[in-house]
Amino acid sequence: MGRLDGKVAIVTGAARGMGEAEARLFAAEGARVVVADVLDEPARAVAAAIGGSAHAVHLDVSDESSWRDALAETEARFGPPDVLVNNAGVLAVTPILTADVAEFRRILDVNLVGTFIGMQVVGGAMAAAGRGSIINVSSTGGLVGQSTIGAYVASKWGVRGLTKSAAIELGPLGVRVNSLHPGGIATPMLGVVGSDVMAEPPAPGTRADDPATADVDELVSRVPLRRAGRPIEVARLALFLASDDASYCTGMEFTVDGGSVAGMDLSGRL
Ligand SMILES: NC(=O)c1ccc[n+]([C@@H]2O[C@H](COP(=O)([O-])OP(=O)(O)OC[C@H]3O[C@@H](n4cnc5c(N)ncnc54)[C@H](O)[C@@H]3O)[C@@H](O)[C@H]2O)c1
Repeated sequence: MGRLDGKVAIVTGAARGMGEAEARLFAAEGARVVVADVLDEPARAVAAAIGGSAHAVHLDVSDESSWRDALAETEARFGPPDVLVNNAGVLAVTPILTADVAEFRRILDVNLVGTFIGMQVVGGAMAAAGRGSIINVSSTGGLVGQSTIGAYVASKWGVRGLTKSAAIELGPLGVRVNSLHPGGIATPMLGVVGSDVMAEPPAPGTRADDPATADVDELVSRVPLRRAGRPIEVARLALFLASDDASYCTGMEFTVDGGSVAGMDLSGRL
């Protein structure tokens, strides 16, 4: 018995990184999965690797008609969606004093407006069916401030707030909406390319075998768990929220960050 048996899931930004891990894990747990991305060839490769329970769809999350086409293709192929992971996102350096305003708007358009349109289009179909789970991927940058990436942080705080409004509006219609807040995760967004997204994390106190993750583990080395997260660790939390195990969870933040927002580590400094 899989934890998503009989469910249809749409995962955006699923051509690589965390979205790929979510698509693969959801399919392994019995879901039929739509691998939605602007990167058509990598999305097709992910769907082909999963097999008949996956289908790649072109989706630009910032474009409303693209969402309507993706929903229609999902319904035609697999039936009405039960799960939506609004995972697609972009990161750019946007210091307050020097950031380009057009770049600031681009980040909001993909990360925040894209999440909004996804909830409106797919959430509408879920509400009509009287059931569904939406997982909006925010960030620890949606819980605290982070310097140099203000547009990204603003977009992820927006996703967190929007999630709460959506949970209140859609809860009576049978649709749960939660936000997921990863810390630093070893994906292409942080420069990790060619790593297996289903690879298990290194055991506590050991170093990763995969040289591709060395830089990001170093970047994130001051968090309590002393390493970056792995895509599969985020996918397991998304799986919980997608499944009926989370049947009474809505409107809330779920963090998977190695303890990074727990507080300051003062040991050895006082
Ligand atoms: N990697 C991290 O440390 C980290 C931390 C916190 C939150 N996040 C968030 O997690 C999510 C996944 O990030 P990741 O690290 O796997 O990134 P990634 O860059 O590896 O993957 C992101 C995917 O989104 C797709 N995408 C970008 N713009 C799109 C658009 N307009 N329409 C459809 N797809 C689009 C990309 O093509 C890519 O396949 C993002 O929302 C990101 O902001 C990442």
